Amino acid sequence: MSYKIFQIQPYFDHSEIKNLKKAIKTGWVTEGPFSGEFLDMLKTFTGAKYAVLANNGTLALFLSLLAIDVKEGDEVIVPDFTFNASAASIAFTGAKPVFVDISPDDLQIDTTKIENAITENTRAIMPVHIYGQSCDMDPVMEIAGKHHLKVVEDAAQGFGVFYKGRHTGTIGDVGMISFFADKTITTGEGAVVLTDNEDIFNKLKMLRNQGRPSSGTFIHPELGMNFRMTDLQCAVGVAQTKKFKTIEKIKARNHRLYEEYLKELPEIEFIKINDFSTFVPFRVNVKVPGLEELIDYLEKQGIQTRRMFYPLHRQPCFSHLNYKEDDFPVAREAYQKGMSLPIHCGLRKDDIRYICSSIKDFYAKK
Ligand SMILES: Cc1ncc(COP(=O)(O)O)c(C=O)c1O
Repeated sequence: MSYKIFQIQPYFDHSEIKNLKKAIKTGWVTEGPFSGEFLDMLKTFTGAKYAVLANNGTLALFLSLLAIDVKEGDEVIVPDFTFNASAASIAFTGAKPVFVDISPDDLQIDTTKIENAITENTRAIMPVHIYGQSCDMDPVMEIAGKHHLKVVEDAAQGFGVFYKGRHTGTIGDVGMISFFADKTITTGEGAVVLTDNEDIFNKLKMLRNQGRPSSGTFIHPELGMNFRMTDLQCAVGVAQTKKFKTIEKIKARNHRLYEEYLKELPEIEFIKINDFSTFVPFRVNVKVPGLEELIDYLEKQGIQTRRMFYPLHRQPCFSHLNYKEDDFPVAREAYQKGMSLPIHCGLRKDDIRYICSSIKDFYAKK
């Protein structure tokens, strides 16, 4: 189906094309000058001491878990309400993902539930920063310290988001940010892994590059794989990073317009934004009654929406973990009521007005 308003749209202009032309002319297609520049920009922007690129966020999480030696027999705590890749990356190490519920207001991991999920096999906690703000990292770090656990931050959606002045992904032992097509800045596919720990950085470097410290040699001191990006992607990444402030501004304006147009509609419940976090809107996320009917109605108006995450404990691929259907009621409610509306930089004021008046029409007709 073709939509009048799509859920996502990258914010590209002449600057990505210029960089891509340059990359092609220089002949560097695998990691080269743009990769170096992109990596430096990301370190400066996030304040991370060390960083490595990875080919996507899912593999960046997998790489991070490998770098802190998570393996079969271990357990890693992860919120029940996140994209499946958070838990899949854990499962692919051979470890067991252990789910905890989320808070009803902000839909982030409920940090008061983490300690109950800790067993003698727990090795790490994976907090996930979703929908453009951070989760509350102080309690996560405190619990991790008390129980000698590592913290791997899934900041896939967290580019530009700061928790108490620190960029998401730089607070735990290791963290990653995704540059997938719907993310705040995009390279199509791609990600960065951040750490302040030199040992973890050295492991990341070996693991991502065939078990050798740098390319150009056929001697591999360790086993590794290929988690590299291309210079073409990084050429786009450099242009995108330079545009972050503009992207942030447009998305904040779009979010404000939705709030203004929908404020008199009692059916719409916006997700709470925490004082401890900055907010770089990642979709407009609301809880609504009559979700499925509303989504169908908006589809007919040519508006592409998304439901929120299907809780991990109900995912067919994790049925062997034997969770019960009514475990994690908050995550379940978020799925039953949660809808994401488009917020991309291609939206005009009139588009947002059209989306909001379509929602108003739907409830007026009920
Ligand atoms: C919370 C979360 N974790 C992990 C991922 C995986 O990232 P990628 O799509 O780059 O593999 C995503 C993204 O799509 C995500 O939203």
